[in-house]
Parts: sequence; structure tokens; C-alpha cells
Amino acid sequence: MAQDKKPISEGEELLTSMFRLLQVVKIHQSNNKLFVDNIESFRVALRKLWANGRPAEFALYRGRFYLNDQRVIYSSAMWNTVIKISEFFQEREINGLKFYPNEEASDKIIVSLMDVLNRAKREKEPYQFLAENLTGDLAWAQVTKDQDQAVEGGQGGTTQEGGGLGREVVTNTNINQEVANQARRAYSQALTIIRQAGARVKEQKKIGVQKAKRAIQELIDILFEDESVFLALSTVRDGTDPLYTHSINTVILAIGVGYRLNVTRAGLEQLGLAALFHDLGKVGAPLRAAKTTDRLEGKDLATAQSHVLASLYHIIRLNATYPLKLALLGPAKEHHQGLDGLGYPRNKNPRSISLFGRILAIADQYVAMTSARPWRKELSPFEALMSILDKAANQLDPLLVKVFINLMGPWPVGSLLTLSTKEIALAKYTPPDSEEGWPLAQLLILGPDGETLPGEIVDLGEKNPDGSLKRGVVGCLHPSQFGLQPVDFLLGKDESRSGPRGQGLV
Ligand SMILES: [Fe+2]
Repeated sequence: MAQDKKPISEGEELLTSMFRLLQVVKIHQSNNKLFVDNIESFRVALRKLWANGRPAEFALYRGRFYLNDQRVIYSSAMWNTVIKISEFFQEREINGLKFYPNEEASDKIIVSLMDVLNRAKREKEPYQFLAENLTGDLAWAQVTKDQDQAVEGGQGGTTQEGGGLGREVVTNTNINQEVANQARRAYSQALTIIRQAGARVKEQKKIGVQKAKRAIQELIDILFEDESVFLALSTVRDGTDPLYTHSINTVILAIGVGYRLNVTRAGLEQLGLAALFHDLGKVGAPLRAAKTTDRLEGKDLATAQSHVLASLYHIIRLNATYPLKLALLGPAKEHHQGLDGLGYPRNKNPRSISLFGRILAIADQYVAMTSARPWRKELSPFEALMSILDKAANQLDPLLVKVFINLMGPWPVGSLLTLSTKEIALAKYTPPDSEEGWPLAQLLILGPDGETLPGEIVDLGEKNPDGSLKRGVVGCLHPSQFGLQPVDFLLGKDESRSGPRGQGLV
């Protein structure tokens, strides 16, 4: 899967060259060297994408660029260009631009195309203007807007305007089912790997990392495809196998934070592996040892500490290179250490706690708090988030807590929300560009036999004409209290699988 992402750098190349050319044609004559060079760069970028005979299709969807249905991953140096191109799309009321292969396009034709694209900004109905002018010599370039559905990349979905906020509301039909199914498989695969690792720990055998690496890579692929699907996976709760689902859910949230921090893909893999193995030392240990991150004493403290040391022991014994083991040891050792010097194992220099250790601490605590234990009930996602926020004052890294809260949104994915309209909904995803932090949510409806069914997906930021929220959040509950597995609703139905969905696993 990872190798399918080749167009990514080419996407960046085309975006950059097109943006430069749009500027250059406004101010330079056709004999200017900059002018000539930029036309050539644009043509080279297009030719690379046309190499397989297919058109090159850009789409802007929820603030992200997609090239031929694949998300364009750009470097931070590209941000300015990305913002400008986003504005370019908005000013022309388009969200898609498609270039059909055309080796005959002369410099003059390319300049005409840029002129038309630039002029459209000044038109009263820019999309209409573009549709009427991209004909004849320019017919190899086409624009699309929301209702053309091009942005959905063939997912068969529809979008509509979100009540005054200008956000798109995703209807129930446009879950990217293929990605959702891949996500289920990636989760199950990762779960199998960590279960097998646990079994080898019990047999006192060494553990390999190759399969684990692949499982983490698969999960990262899902994240690169669709962050909302990726985060939905973190809501899986399993009462019979809590240690292993805890590990995978921690992997997901840790990687999610790393991704928002622009950690490299190789870095995300290391962070994911550290999260996968961080609690291996709990295998076979009494669950009570994992009870709390508060200060423990005497025997409880020794038992709690022992799981961290045991995890380090298992990581040292991994069949892996020394550099990788070293990279995993730090975060695993640090995940119960607070920046206030409390926690365990004792750390006299808490400021030395690594970035990945700090991320892991947040992800680990959130997943633990939102999971039931034999001695306590689970917290609702909102309560857990508030607790994480409280700890930002001393124990957890405040900047990373901010990133985590931005990632999860105030109503984290999987929150069971009661609404002012008497409806019930599952929080689905808070897009990064959400102005007020309101999530998209999946309404839950009652089926004819009393079963819970997925309903429409709504934007909780949607407002009435008087400016009040159409659906206010009245309460936040944990779906486990009602026997609900959010992934059963948020990831749609996997038609390729038979048998019941959920059942504690995906
Ligand atoms: Fe732990």
C-alpha cells in the first residue's frame, strides 16, 4: 500500500508549479526566462502524472488536497502555497481541477488557461465562467464543484452546505467503505500481532518485529487515507481482552498526535511500535497493578513499577536492531513518568522525558480512563479529556495536551451525545478546519425490532437562522454503558464479512 503513494510528491510538484505560473503570467511577458521556466515546470509536472495515460485530477476536500483520489502529503514548506491554492479554489467556487492528457498544449495554450483561471476570480459567477471558457483548445482542463461529487473520489457520496458555517456535511452514504474495511483489517491484524507477542512472552520466547512493523505501517496508511476512519478505530473496547485492545488504541492515538505534529513516517512507525509494546510487561501480571497513575506506596508501587521494567526487559529481548530497541525503550520507560517528577519509575530529571514518551503518556492515560476495569467504570470521552486537561498543569506536557485536544475535538470520537432535539448521536470527527470545534456526528435511530441503527450524519455546528445551534449537546455518555461499539456505526457495514459486527473486535 505504501508504494501506491508515489503521486504524493508529484502532487506537491504540480501544486507548486501551477501556483507559481498563475502568478508569473500576471506580471511577465512570454519572452521572460522566469515565464518560460515556469511553463516548463508545470508541463513536466503534468507529464509525470499523465505517464499512465490517465488524467490528473486535483480535488479539495475538507481543506485537504487529493490527487487522483490520494491525499497529497506536503512538506511544511508548502503550507503557504497550499493556503493560497485553497483560496484560489474558494474564490472560483470550485473544488476540483482536472487535466486530461494533452501533449500538444503549446506555451500559448497554457498561458491562455492560466489567464482564464485568473480572470474567473473577478467574475460574478466564476464557476459558470470557467465552464463556458474551458472549451476548444482549453477543453483538456476542466473544473468541478461540490455537486459534481468529484471531491469524493468516486466514493459515491454527496455533500451539502452546512447551515451557515460553510462546512460540508457528509451524508451517511459517503463513508469510504473500502478504507473503512481496510481499517478494520489493519486493526484486527495489529491485534493478532500483539496477542501473539503476549503468547510468546508467556512462553518466555523472543518476539520478532517485522510483522509488528507491517501492522503499524498498515495503520499509518489508514491515517494517511482518512484521519476520521483512523481515529474511529480507537473506540474499540473489549472487556475480554482489554490489555491488547488498550495497546492498539494507544498506538492509534499516539500516532494521531505524532501525525498532527508532522512527525515523519519513519518516526510514526517508531512511535507506533513503542506504543504497541509499552505494556508488554503486564502480560500475565494481575490487572490491579495497572490501576492508577497516582502516587502508589509499598507493595502497590513495586507491583506497578514492575510492569514498566518488565516491558523494558521484553523490548530488550526483541529480535530487532539495537537502534530500534533503544528508540522503543525510552518512551516505554517514560510513559508513567510525570513532568512534575511524580509517577514511576522515579525520574529525577523529568524535563528529559522524550517527545514520544510524553505523547505516549497522554494516549495511554486517555485510553485507560475511557476503558472499564474490574474495579471501576469507564469515564466518558469528555470526562477523560477534562482529566487530561487538568493534568496539563503538572503531569502532562501542556502543548501536547493541546494537540491532543485539537485532534480529538471537545467531543471526542465515540462520545455518545444526547442532543437538545432528543436525538442521540455518536461523535464522529472534528475536522481540523472546524471553526468552533463542533464535530460531525452520526445520529442513532431505533430500528423496527428495537435495535440501534446508524442514521444521518449531521454537523453539530449547524445553526438555525437566528444563530442558535440546531442541535445542542446536552450530555456525553460512554457507548459501552449501552453495549454499543462505535465502529459498528462509524465505519459502516463491511459487506465482505459474514457474521455479527463488533463483538469486541472490529
Ligand atoms: Fe503502563
